[in-house]
Amino acid sequence: MNHDALFAPLQLGTIKVQNRIIMAPLTRMRAGTGNVPTALNAKYYAQRASAGLIIAEGTAVSHQGQGYPGAPGIYTEDQINGWRSVTDAVHSKRGRIFLQIAHNGRNSHSSLLPQNSLPVAPSAIPPDLPAFTNEFKQVPTETPRALETDEISTIVDTFVQAALNAIEAGFDGVEVQAANSHLIDQFLQDGTNKRTDEYGGIAENRVRFLLEVVDKVSAAVGINRLGVRLSPFGQYGGIHDSNPLHLYGIAISALDKRQIAYLHLIEGRGSEIGLGDGLHEEALNNAQLFRSNFRGPLISAAAYTPSSATQTVSKGEADGIAFGRLFIANPDLVERIRDGLPMNKYDRSTFYGGGEHGYTDYPVAI
Ligand SMILES: Cc1cc2nc3c(=O)[nH]c(=O)nc-3n(C[C@H](O)[C@H](O)[C@H](O)COP(=O)(O)O)c2cc1C
Repeated sequence: MNHDALFAPLQLGTIKVQNRIIMAPLTRMRAGTGNVPTALNAKYYAQRASAGLIIAEGTAVSHQGQGYPGAPGIYTEDQINGWRSVTDAVHSKRGRIFLQIAHNGRNSHSSLLPQNSLPVAPSAIPPDLPAFTNEFKQVPTETPRALETDEISTIVDTFVQAALNAIEAGFDGVEVQAANSHLIDQFLQDGTNKRTDEYGGIAENRVRFLLEVVDKVSAAVGINRLGVRLSPFGQYGGIHDSNPLHLYGIAISALDKRQIAYLHLIEGRGSEIGLGDGLHEEALNNAQLFRSNFRGPLISAAAYTPSSATQTVSKGEADGIAFGRLFIANPDLVERIRDGLPMNKYDRSTFYGGGEHGYTDYPVAI
């Protein structure tokens, strides 16, 4: 099959990417002490620099935003310096790299948080997934503490500082993590947001936190350097909404009006965070559903193969395709797609934590 459609350049805000094969954000839990990116992380990303755009893994905007042991942050000087070695390594291979900035909210565990405090959330409702402790043990999640109204603007400010830090560290832009049951998603969906203040209730109120983050981050670093990731109909951690079509229609139209650099949607057909290999064939197609709400560049993710990616871009349903698991196992995914070469298989047991095995030792084809 001819994959030319994936090799047309694409303007994403201030940057022009050379192909439409995008590396999805992938938490690998291999940062060093102090949640600082290391030389190994720089090597891993540089190996994948032929992606049109790398979206680096979910990275905590603050100590309170941490969710996983070994996940990086972007709130200390050492973390900024660590990330600079990553962006330098990618740029020296002419790659482009955004950072996904995230607050994990209720998915975290007190052992990872300041003074062992409880995870925070819009409402005191625990997720139905295990949490990771600071010692990489999986334990039942705790019931989070519901945020006070006046704490919310402080969290928005941590996103702003994180974005400024990311630009200082050399990133080409930032992606706001509003998908996959992270704090912003917890505010969006009414299964996790039972608030009675101006951040809860009707959908227009539940999108307020997202839009405050977007507006303040864009005022600081420019709307052209800001993408947003959403997972409409996502169910990770038991998250749900009573009317996702209405909610995400409102959120996406508001992002359209602001002219963000790109919108990144996760398809329900795959698994939002790649936990399983099964397909939900019955899932609605988010790219098709929401394309008419958003005029800017649309990146679609989850369960794509090179052929389905090419078809989706050729039909104009999305402008770029993000690959997760295929990029874990194939550092030269772009070249393999271009030349029609077979793919390495990923090893799920090495997704989270560990060293170079399953991280930087996947072979290139040629
Ligand atoms: C190991 C692993 C870590 C992930 N970490 C993140 C993350 O940090 N942020 C995020 O938005 N999605 C994360 N995801 C979801 C991926 O970005 C992607 O949407 C998902 O794997 C589906 O794409 P795929 O079918 O091409 O793998 C992760 C997925 C996997 C497998």
